[in-house]
Parts: sequence; structure tokens; C-alpha cells
Amino acid sequence: MAHFIAEVFHILFVLQLIGSYSVASQYVISDASGLGRRYDGIGGLSGGGATSRLLVNYPEPYLDQILDYLFKPNFGASLPILKVEIGGDSQSTDGTESSHMHSANDENYQRGYEWWLMKEAKKRNPSIKLYGLPWAFPGWIGNGQQSPYVNIDVTVDYIIKWIQGAKTHHNLTIDYIGIWNERKHNASYIKLLRATLDRKSLHHVQVVAADGKFRISYDILKDPALAKAVQVIGVHYPGTQVTNYTLETGKTIWASEDYSTNNNEVGAGCWARILNQNYVNGMMTSTISWNLIASYYDALPYTRDGLMTANEPWNSHYEVTDTIWITAHTTQFTDPGWMYLKHKSGVQHLDKGGSFVSMTDGVNLTIIIETMTHDHSKCIRPYLPPYNVAPQTAKFTLQGSFAKVSSLNVWYSKLTFSGQTSTMFAKKNPIKVVNGSFTLSLNPDEVYTLTTTERGYKGNYPTPPPSAPFPVPYSDNFDNYPEFSEASNFADQAGVWEIRESGDPTHKLVMEQVVLESPVYWCPAAESPISVIGNYSWQNANVSMDVKLGDNTGAFLAQRINHGGCKVVAATGLFFIVYSNGTFAVYSDIHRQFLLNSGQVDVKSGMWFKMQLLIQDNKATGFVQGKTLFTASLDPKTIPSHGFVAMGMPNYASAQFDNFDIISAS
Ligand SMILES: *[C@@H]1O[C@H](CO)[C@@H](O)[C@H](O)[C@H]1NC(C)=O
Ligand SMILES: *[C@@H]1O[C@H](CO)[C@@H](O)[C@H](O)[C@H]1NC(C)=O
Ligand SMILES: *[C@@H]1O[C@H](CO)[C@@H](O)[C@H](O)[C@H]1NC(C)=O
Ligand SMILES: *[C@@H]1O[C@H](CO)[C@@H](O)[C@H](O)[C@H]1NC(C)=O
Ligand SMILES: *[C@@H]1O[C@H](CO)[C@@H](O)[C@H](O)[C@H]1NC(C)=O
Ligand SMILES: *[C@@H]1O[C@H](CO)[C@@H](O)[C@H](O)[C@H]1NC(C)=O
Ligand SMILES: *[C@@H]1O[C@H](CO)[C@@H](O)[C@H](O)[C@H]1NC(C)=O
Ligand SMILES: *[C@@H]1O[C@H](CO)[C@@H](O)[C@H](O)[C@H]1NC(C)=O
Repeated sequence: MAHFIAEVFHILFVLQLIGSYSVASQYVISDASGLGRRYDGIGGLSGGGATSRLLVNYPEPYLDQILDYLFKPNFGASLPILKVEIGGDSQSTDGTESSHMHSANDENYQRGYEWWLMKEAKKRNPSIKLYGLPWAFPGWIGNGQQSPYVNIDVTVDYIIKWIQGAKTHHNLTIDYIGIWNERKHNASYIKLLRATLDRKSLHHVQVVAADGKFRISYDILKDPALAKAVQVIGVHYPGTQVTNYTLETGKTIWASEDYSTNNNEVGAGCWARILNQNYVNGMMTSTISWNLIASYYDALPYTRDGLMTANEPWNSHYEVTDTIWITAHTTQFTDPGWMYLKHKSGVQHLDKGGSFVSMTDGVNLTIIIETMTHDHSKCIRPYLPPYNVAPQTAKFTLQGSFAKVSSLNVWYSKLTFSGQTSTMFAKKNPIKVVNGSFTLSLNPDEVYTLTTTERGYKGNYPTPPPSAPFPVPYSDNFDNYPEFSEASNFADQAGVWEIRESGDPTHKLVMEQVVLESPVYWCPAAESPISVIGNYSWQNANVSMDVKLGDNTGAFLAQRINHGGCKVVAATGLFFIVYSNGTFAVYSDIHRQFLLNSGQVDVKSGMWFKMQLLIQDNKATGFVQGKTLFTASLDPKTIPSHGFVAMGMPNYASAQFDNFDIISAS
């Protein structure tokens, strides 16, 4: 009997399976009862922090190619939004970015690479929207406190200057401005910012708040003046979900930072799923990827969490990852200003897993379908509850003004996870729409774009050079850079080094550390400026540099540095420090708690001297002006076995660095 029942259940199960293949689910695509929200575009975020650091040093033609894959319309990701960090002189995830005002009476709009990147993006796509957001602030903004809201007039003025500087110095129009990344917002500050933008004829700049959780929505509901000051509610990593009280505000809602997942196939799956479902579930009309491009050393935090990878400027290697083509599925067939169709009329979940969205410009129709399975589309955060995706047949019926559509162009991707190359962004034969409808067989981990537009192009360039390790020997006298730029391959983790005139004809241009006081942190970074370079797997190296110190400070040369990013506070390694008071010390940690050696050395502030650090056979030797100062055996319990080479300082003060050499390393 039991056997018989089992048999019946088995037959029923098989029938159900067959049914699931043969019975098409029905979906309506229609504008007959109106439209949904305005689509604002997909974005990439450069910075937060220093994520484009190694990009700017790529040689041509590779640099142009990479920028084309990101920004050129109808070519690659064709991004309609570029969000950048407003440099705050402090660590903001993978490094520091330079502020346009290191002090209250300092102002300069040639620093860093975000201006350059915005101009390159605009050059390719004049209608790309620009969005600026601070992570950290220079110390003077906080006036001794860890807050940008101590004197809100000062902070508003600082931000307005950045917006105006973009225009005056670079002819860049900033479209969106944020508050303080993932930190407290302050309603008085937001209102003053809005009022000042309006007073300075910057009405077009929209305020996005608060680049964090949904909390700002409560405040907006309670405070009509705040509601007026905020144009867009920007939330981070919403997991495609929105809260009711956020919807109640009636505001435009964005996932103003999202993704942050390694750009492998699962990352591409994550991106495909959230690009659709941030609207399907969350009514969010823009999704911005942290980050735009992984142009930071792999050993820094969040390895390759960008829409593509370019972190080997020394040999021009770069990788156009699947995430670029997932982006193209939306961006190449829509423009900001197109409207989503209404839920259940072109926007919804598929019955057997996955989702689709539809958008129109009033004439054309673009439908994007994704069927990403759970395990192949997990993002770094938040937790993704389990769900199933099965093969399914979907019948779509076009109604309203789309009833007359007779054919749809088809672009197709299938992500594979067993070592085979995925099919990405392939043009397929058009679908015939017969009597207003068509049927599609959908399988797991696919993306389709169906569109009446004739757009779509899979851009490509010859394969770039293969990956290669950081080159040794390595030598830089810093004389071939524009002033205020940053030297190739150095990745500042605390403090900021800019190329500056040394004022000394024998040294010409040098790297100068320019942050002179503790910043208003985004993450509590080290109180010691430090810039890393080279290969994280190096155990041995012979490195040297010339230094000129200001008063009451010092400079270090270090090896085997094991942490960057916000964890740079916990960095250990071998730190060889020479002080301007004529002493030296050797420590195994950035906080200078664990002293290994110390003594006298014949240097003083204002004089150039050469320091050298050799690690070989687990033994470190330090030299100044060619003279041996110490030899120390490296205890594997306190000194990491490998890590970056670094230069730095024990405090925020002024010093110049020149003639940096890595003579050997392995
Ligand atoms: C916002 O900033 C103002 C001005 O500094 C300050 O008086 C107020 O306490 C701040 N509010 C919050 C909630 O931090
Ligand atoms: C500035 O940019 C606008 C487009 O935004 C362009 O029309 C204009 O020619 C540019 N001006 C200069 C001086 O380059
Ligand atoms: C949010 O709104 C949805 C749809 O109106 C409703 O089903 C749900 O219960 C609401 N949740 C809360 C927490 O109010
Ligand atoms: C299209 O619809 C018409 C009228 O409803 C019907 O006669 C015809 O058979 C349909 N054609 C197809 C291919 O389904
Ligand atoms: C929109 O559709 C019209 C008519 O089919 C077509 O001529 C036009 O090129 C389309 N627009 C875009 C942006 O593809
Ligand atoms: C570091 O060195 C290892 C071993 O030689 C190499 O595989 C890797 O590509 C190098 N990485 C970088 C960033 O130089
Ligand atoms: C380290 O580099 C210096 C040049 O600065 C060189 O004179 C010395 O021989 C090198 N030492 C070793 C062990 O390679
Ligand atoms: C030199 O400066 C260092 C760092 O501030 C300090 O630890 C040391 O005591 C000073 N030495 C002398 C002799 O002043």
C-alpha cells in the first residue's frame, strides 16, 4: 500500500514537472493604465576610497580602451552615472583621496584623479550624470572633533567650493551631491546645503541623502523642510528591499551604493539580480556599483569588487569582466528619463524564479529578464534568503501602445559556473510578436534584453597584455608627473602624498606628504601617514629613498606591511624610522609599541639624506647615508612573513621623498 501511494505521488510529481515545462506562465506588458517611476540610470562609484588609484597610471592606448568599456555609449557598460568621492585626506576603504582644501585657506582643483576621470567620462558621454560624496574631511573641518557638523556653514562652504571648482576649473556640472557616506546625517546641515545651493544658482544640483540606511526616511516624514531639501533618498546595500516608511515619503529612491562583490560569475549574477530587483522589490530607480573599477592592489580590502579590473598599470593588463556585459543589458537599451512600466504590467517576478522589468521612452520598449539562481547571485551583503529558479516557459502579451510591436531584438547572456566561458551579451535572432504575444523558454542564470530599439553593440579591443608581477628593479625620481598628481603605483593608506616642487634644483619634483593634522575620519585610520607599493607576497627586498624632514617628525621605510584599507591601523611589519631630532628607531607595528632597535643618527630637519632598508634571510639591516645603523633578526611571531613595501611618517607633518628605488625584491 505504502509502495502504491509512493508510486502515485511519483507519477503526480512527474506530471507536475512536465507541466512546469509545457504550461506557459502569462505576463502582460502594457502602458494602458499608466507608467511606473522614472529610471535614473545605473552608476559606478570611483573612490570610497581610492579604488581608481592604479587606473590613472595606465599608458595609452590601454587607458582609452578601459575608459571606453566603462563609459562609451553603446560600447560596454555605457554607464549613465558616475559617482566620485570628494577626497577627504583620509582612509576611505582602499586608500586615501586628496582634499581640494587641506587647510582652511588652501584651495586646489588639480589633485587626485577624480576630476580627470569625470572629464574622461564626459568626453565619451556628455550626458553622463555626476554625483559627489564625501567619506572623510580634512581635520580643520572638524575643528578638533570627529564630525563635519561642528560648524555647518564651514562644511557647506567646503562642499559648495568643490561643486563650483568642478565648473570653474574643469567645466564639469555636478548633478547630485551627497551628505556623509554611511555616517550620521544632520538635518540642519542638509537644509543649509539645499538653501545654499539655491542661493548660489545651483538649483540643478540634487541632494541625495543620506547614503546609509533607511533612517533618513523617518526624519523626512517628520520634517517637511527636510523633505523639501532632499531630492533623492539614497540607501546602501538594501538587498533589493525598501521599507514602507521610505515609500511613504514619495521620494525617488536609489540604491546609491550596492554590489561590492568580486567581479567573477557570481558577482555578475548578483549584479544582474539586483539591477532588476532593486526596482521590482524596492522601487529603486538607480543602482550604483561600489566600485566602478577595481584599480587597487588585490591585497587591499574587497579584492576586485568593481565592474571590471585594471590594477596592473606596469604592464597594461586589464580584465573586461562579465559585470560589464550585465550592465550593458540595461544601459545600452535605455536612457535616464525612460519610464519603468507599472508592476504587473511589465515589472514583476517570474513564476518559477527570476524577474523582469520593462521601460519605455514613450515609443520604444525594452524588457530585461533575469533568472539568476540563489547560489550564483549572492552579493557580499546582505544575507540572501533561499529561493528557487526552475526552467520555465513565459508567454508575454504586449498591450496598450505596445500592441502594435511586431518584432523585438534580442540580446542574451548565460552565466556558467563550471569553468566554461559564459555567453555574454550575444545578439540573437529577433523574436516575432504574433497577435501581440510571444513565448520564451527560460533557463536558470540567463539574462535577456528584448527591445524595439536598434541599439546594442559588444565593443571590443585586442586582448591586452597578460598579467605580470610588479616589476623589479623599480625606480622613480618623480620628475615626470604634473604637480599635485600622485606617483604611479603608490597607494596612500593614511596621509596624502602629492607631487610637488621641492624648491631644490638637485631634487626637482618630489613626493610630499601634505596632510598636516588628523582628519575627520571615515574609519579610524593610523595616525601615521603610510603609502604602500609593490607586491604583497614579497618576503625580501632591498629598498632605498631620499628624505627631507620638516621639524618634529620623521620618515620610515618599511617592509612586509600586512594591512591596508581601514585595517592599516593594525599594520605590522618592519618599520625603520629616522627622526628629525637625530635618532632612529625600528618597530614591528605602526603604533610604535614594539621597539626592536634604536640609536643616534647624524640627520636633522631640512637636510636631504638617503635611507635604505634591506631584508634578506629573515634579517633586516638599516642604513642612512650608506652607514649601517642596525641589524635585527626577524621574529616570525611579531613580523609578518611577507607584505608590501611602504614609506611613511610617524605623525601628520611635512616631509619630502625622492629617488625611490626597489633594487631587488622576492
Ligand atoms: C546638527 O548640526 C547642528 C549645527 O552644528 C548642531 O547644533 C546639531 O546638534 C546637529 N544635530 C545633530 C542631530 O547632530
Ligand atoms: C563646457 O561644457 C559644455 C557642455 O557641458 C560645452 O558645451 C562647452 O563648450 C564647454 N566649454 C568649454 C570652455 O570647454
Ligand atoms: C508594508 O506594505 C506592504 C504593502 O502595502 C504590506 O503588505 C506590509 O504589511 C507593510 N509592512 C509594514 C511593516 O507595515
Ligand atoms: C491571431 O488572432 C486572430 C484573431 O484573434 C486569429 O484568427 C488568428 O488565428 C491568430 N493567429 C495566430 C497565429 O495565433
Ligand atoms: C525607437 O523606435 C523607433 C521606431 O521603432 C526607432 O526609429 C528609433 O530608432 C528607436 N529609438 C531608439 C533609441 O532606438
Ligand atoms: C606578486 O608576486 C607573485 C609571485 O611572483 C605573482 O604571482 C603575483 O602576480 C604578483 N602580484 C603583483 C601584484 O605583483
Ligand atoms: C642593496 O642596494 C644597494 C644600492 O642601494 C646596493 O649597494 C647593495 O649591494 C644592495 N644589497 C644587496 C644585498 O642586494
Ligand atoms: C626624538 O623624537 C622621537 C619621536 O618623537 C622621540 O621618541 C625621542 O625621544 C626623541 N629623542 C630625542 C633625543 O629628543
